[in-house]
Amino acid sequence: MQNHLRTAVVTGASRGFGRAIAAALVAGGTDVVGIARNGPELDAVRGELGPAFTPVAGDATGDALAEEVIRTRRPGLLVLNAGATPPMAPVQEQTWESFSRNWEVDTRHVFAWTGAALRAPLAPGSVVLSVSSGAALGGSPLSGGYASAKAAIRYLRQYGDEEARRAGLGIRFVTLLPDMTPAGGVGEAGVTGYAARTGVSREAFIEGRQPILTLERIGRAVVELAGTPDSGPEYRIGGAGLSPVG
Ligand SMILES: NC(=O)c1ccc[n+]([C@@H]2O[C@H](COP(=O)([O-])OP(=O)(O)OC[C@H]3O[C@@H](n4cnc5c(N)ncnc54)[C@H](OP(=O)(O)O)[C@@H]3O)[C@@H](O)[C@H]2O)c1
Repeated sequence: MQNHLRTAVVTGASRGFGRAIAAALVAGGTDVVGIARNGPELDAVRGELGPAFTPVAGDATGDALAEEVIRTRRPGLLVLNAGATPPMAPVQEQTWESFSRNWEVDTRHVFAWTGAALRAPLAPGSVVLSVSSGAALGGSPLSGGYASAKAAIRYLRQYGDEEARRAGLGIRFVTLLPDMTPAGGVGEAGVTGYAARTGVSREAFIEGRQPILTLERIGRAVVELAGTPDSGPEYRIGGAGLSPVG
């Protein structure tokens, strides 16, 4: 096994994409430290995946948690996946608080862990893989600040990569931009919201977006990208698989 894949941190590991990514990494022999706020949900993942999964209940947006986990666990892979479910409403029905929710969770936690990874620093050969969204490319008019928060995550990848290069750290930064899928809680809210907006049933909306992205495919894609030293910087992922951005 490649050295950097011995121990990984996965944020948002209790449900949806994060749980599937943790399962795929554990299946490949990686020890995973899984972070989410709901302790019992994380414990259920531990029950399913066994001792290779270590639950750490906490808010992933905290700088102190990021620094402590990196210092004590020495991960070679960070999968920055945690995210809030955006409030589904058009802009005129959003409040500033609802509009900025994904900035406060998704972007803030990638900011905290990117800084901590550079300051520690992670060992040469390590990988920081952040989960953005296809919405970062085309917008998402029902999701408040979601698309812009996910676009900021793309910039954080670029900034992290630049600083790592300048300091000769040998840390690889990658961003994944998944298509909307009801397989995760965030996509489930999106599918329900956009189906209602376009006046079709949830089932018809999903049928119109086949092939739909599955949790298994997300898990496999993260393992593949983490293990490919010469990967590109950014990939979309949908039901048909990975494709480089740009
Ligand atoms: N599903 C999609 O269609 C889709 C498409 C593109 C991108 N994405 C992105 O993929 C990621 C995962 O989405 P998902 O659909 O799998 O979501 P999900 O099923 O709702 O899971 C979200 C995970 O994030 C955790 N989380 C939320 N806030 C947190 C915080 N402050 N600190 C620590 N953990 C936190 C949740 O646990 P707790 O609530 O217990 O903390 C949960 O484990 C998100 O970043 C999302 O934006 C999803």
